Amino acid sequence: MDTVSFNLNGKPVKCTSQPVERLSAVLRDELNVKGVKTGCDAGDCGACSVLVDGQPVCSCLTPLGQVENCKVTTVEGLAENQTLSNLQESFLQFGAAQCGICTPAMLVSAQSLLDKTPQPTRAQVEDALGGVLCRCTGYQKIIDAVLHASSFTDKSVTPPANSAVGSAIRHLDGRPKVTGQLAYGADSFPPDAVLVRVIRSPHHHADFTIGDLSAFKKVHPGIHEVFTAADIPGKNCFGVIPPFADQPVFAENTARFRGEAIAAIAGEREVIRAFDESDFPVLWQVKPHVLLPDAARQTDAPQLHEGRKGNILVHGLVQRGDADTALNNAAHKVTVKSSTPFVEHAYIEPEAGYAERAGDRIEIHASTQAAQMDRESLAEIMGLKLDDVRVAPTACGGGFGSKLDISMQPYIALAAWKLKRPAAICYTRKQSMQSTTKRHPSQIELTIGCDQNGKINGFAFDGIFNTGAYASWGPTVANRVPVHASGPYYIKDYRAKSVAVHTNTPPSGAFRGFGVPQSAIPQECAFD
Ligand code: FES
Ligand code: FES
Repeated sequence: MDTVSFNLNGKPVKCTSQPVERLSAVLRDELNVKGVKTGCDAGDCGACSVLVDGQPVCSCLTPLGQVENCKVTTVEGLAENQTLSNLQESFLQFGAAQCGICTPAMLVSAQSLLDKTPQPTRAQVEDALGGVLCRCTGYQKIIDAVLHASSFTDKSVTPPANSAVGSAIRHLDGRPKVTGQLAYGADSFPPDAVLVRVIRSPHHHADFTIGDLSAFKKVHPGIHEVFTAADIPGKNCFGVIPPFADQPVFAENTARFRGEAIAAIAGEREVIRAFDESDFPVLWQVKPHVLLPDAARQTDAPQLHEGRKGNILVHGLVQRGDADTALNNAAHKVTVKSSTPFVEHAYIEPEAGYAERAGDRIEIHASTQAAQMDRESLAEIMGLKLDDVRVAPTACGGGFGSKLDISMQPYIALAAWKLKRPAAICYTRKQSMQSTTKRHPSQIELTIGCDQNGKINGFAFDGIFNTGAYASWGPTVANRVPVHASGPYYIKDYRAKSVAVHTNTPPSGAFRGFGVPQSAIPQECAFD
């Protein structure tokens, strides 16, 4: 068998993967070097950065064959004999690793710079790190850590007595972040795990019929099982607010947004990865769809859910005094209209994890922000007692609200349960963006009045929020925004109304502030 040889972190290695294989995949899967992260497999995020002969490269875009006889350095190669490098120590001291998923790539990119330029300028550091995205830190602490790395001498973990206030305190989980040892959702799949892949609707709104799955499996030998709504042992429904729970694990007969799950296949990794989704036996009948709240509220608009007339999920209202009279009597008035779009959370770590069955219990090891909520949902979906569901969160490479909702967990739980084999999944960036929650798009109209002295009085706020195809955190957004729409200001005569409207788009959910940032934009503009 042909092999590709190179030097990895000071040691010679031989790889049997194909020379065209991505270096990131070879490092992670064949050589078990999990400090190399992948966020996009497209050269955009830089999380997969490694050094090849001292130069940073995106290992997801580097074919294995290109590093033959080269020197490859990953984050695992920065510490010597368990002793952290000055750069790693500096990252700890400056709190430069937050979720930590970008940290290995930041560290190797910075090390490449410091090897050539031990005392870089801020501009040089910014330039050297420009290819690696960090979604958490705002970059300043990372840049400061690199600037101070050469002169870094203070390795004390705790500040001296009586000087703790104002001192930098090292994160308890900092060391595994700067050494690449911290395990995220995709970092600890059991070797015998099957891979799971979700089949999704390519249409905004469509009825569908799934074809002959036995025949399908016969002609796809590496696919061990196909799961649909009929295979859910418990309730085919989840949602973060139980009275509003409405999202199926698998759509039944009708898909309500492009990217909605209709089935999942589980099998051998190479087969699942290479599967061409156009081979999946499904017939689609496309239906009219609505993407914007104004269209969704028309009387002839397609209705997404029974019992939610006009596609209205919920209204919100906070009022005191008499806003209309106050505005009529105001010496001055200003009206601001604003609209904001969907915002993707864009955590660097896509959704990933694995499940395994232990007798009559199911265990989920996945990236999440809400282990207990996941557990409750999974118990309902799997038809199990709560005590028979264990959720062991891995490190979470960014969530910002979206990983409060379950995503891939039911698919791996179902596959592991039925196949009695560990089952793993790692969403691609596209799958993650297609199917998980977003920030609610908003349309807001706000009028504020004041008296001759500029004292604010009279405030009327009307907000329309696109909550997507399913409820998720829509009720929270619609009810929290009216509470916060005035910001920190005291206003005597106040009325704030909101409405969350269903459309054929991915569900809108939690995203830092539950709709309040959207309302702060027109509010502060109006006050200005
Ligand atoms: S740039 Fe390689 S994984 Fe994003
Ligand atoms: S710390 Fe950089 S992405 Fe989270």
